[in-house]
Amino acid sequence: MARTPFHMAWFVSRGYGPKAWRLPWGGPNPQNWVKPDLFVDLARAMERACFDYIMIEDSSNIPYTYKNSHETYVRLAVDSPKLDPAVLAPYMMAATRNLGIVTTLATFEYHPFLLARLTNTLDHVSDGRAGWNLVTGSNDGGAQNYGLKGQFRHDERYDMADEYCEAVTRLWDSWEPDAMIVDKDRAIFADPAKVHPVHFEGKYYSTRGPLAAPRSPQGHPVICQAGGSPRGRTFAARWADTIIASANDVAGMKAFRDDIRAQGAAFGRNPDDIKVLFLIAPIVDEFRDAAEARRDAQKADANAFIEWHLASSSRLTGIDFSKFDLDEPLPELDSNGHRTLAAAYAGRTLRDIAGSGRQTADLDLNGTPAAVAARLCEMMDAVGGDGFLIMNGELTRRYVAEITDGLIPELQRLGVVRTQYEHALFRDNLLAY
Ligand SMILES: Cc1cc2nc3c(=O)[nH]c(=O)nc-3n(C[C@H](O)[C@H](O)[C@H](O)COP(=O)(O)O)c2cc1C
Repeated sequence: MARTPFHMAWFVSRGYGPKAWRLPWGGPNPQNWVKPDLFVDLARAMERACFDYIMIEDSSNIPYTYKNSHETYVRLAVDSPKLDPAVLAPYMMAATRNLGIVTTLATFEYHPFLLARLTNTLDHVSDGRAGWNLVTGSNDGGAQNYGLKGQFRHDERYDMADEYCEAVTRLWDSWEPDAMIVDKDRAIFADPAKVHPVHFEGKYYSTRGPLAAPRSPQGHPVICQAGGSPRGRTFAARWADTIIASANDVAGMKAFRDDIRAQGAAFGRNPDDIKVLFLIAPIVDEFRDAAEARRDAQKADANAFIEWHLASSSRLTGIDFSKFDLDEPLPELDSNGHRTLAAAYAGRTLRDIAGSGRQTADLDLNGTPAAVAARLCEMMDAVGGDGFLIMNGELTRRYVAEITDGLIPELQRLGVVRTQYEHALFRDNLLAY
């Protein structure tokens, strides 16, 4: 049977922030996390391994959801601090030629014009490799930094985002592809007939346009999205080029992807134009025992620092988990933040959730590169596509090398991931198979 080919990407959990600062392999100078060096090294490694893209997570507040205080967040660097990923992205773009670079930009932080302008600029400077991780925000503290009382209600955020995307795409389209002429002899820089105001007037947003710069190489930078709730999925199926999703098992992955593809088709889209990538956190080592020992060490660390995980979950869901017993099964929880995550907590204890040390499901991905590669192939054959996204909050150069120089060559040997880029533009590579 022919193997299902698939795409690989990397999710930089906790964004442009400190990584592995109190753990082994964090590098000689953990204070140096404010510099782009680690991320640039990562981007180069990704490109060597022919990844489709790297996505830089972001949020822009020091949270205070847990115990109504920023004490735990600051002391243990829980999901913060973070520098601005839009400043990091060009460093990674300058160090690579084919890798897609996806920057998280939240709709409540940027006016659509500012976002359209920023992503258009990133697409120009990278020769068509910019992506936008489209998030609507989840934590009230984040919204308060921008003068709001809190986040808008969950489903309304997606209604607003629909309108936001209409405004942004119209701005991206406001210069026709051949509007810029730059003809020295005729003294014509651009054709005014091919540059159009958009006069967008919505319920939430308005903008006049046109965009202040010519159409970028991709026209529309790649849109990445991660909403998993029913409303979030419908939104993603309408707008996203690639969706990042988390599932507990292969059946869950298949159900999620099938749903997105059906909803995409209902919007008149070709389902093959939407690439659903699933989060995984494999540990590969020379021997299975070594990989499992490292997984156990991860769990032991999570148990030793359980408040880190409680504070993180509190930030994501907007629920103060200091108020719950660690060993009592959680009730159904109402979250205005990451609704899918909160729904998955019901019936589990906090010690189980926080102490597992895992941010993704347990998919038994510990072992030799060859064994993990074989397992990933089996999973994709069962799901039907479209690929995986590596996630490891405690990013180190060692971990990156194990994936890019250990796991990926095994996948390449099996013929399921690319060995060279097919195209120049990010979206074209994403759609290559
Ligand atoms: C893997 C993953 C990555 C995400 N990255 C970000 C991010 O960088 N910044 C952010 O504000 N939200 C991020 N989100 C949140 C989503 O955009 C979305 O708001 C959240 O999953 C809640 O959506 P839902 O209620 O539809 O599931 C991420 C979610 C997932 C699952």
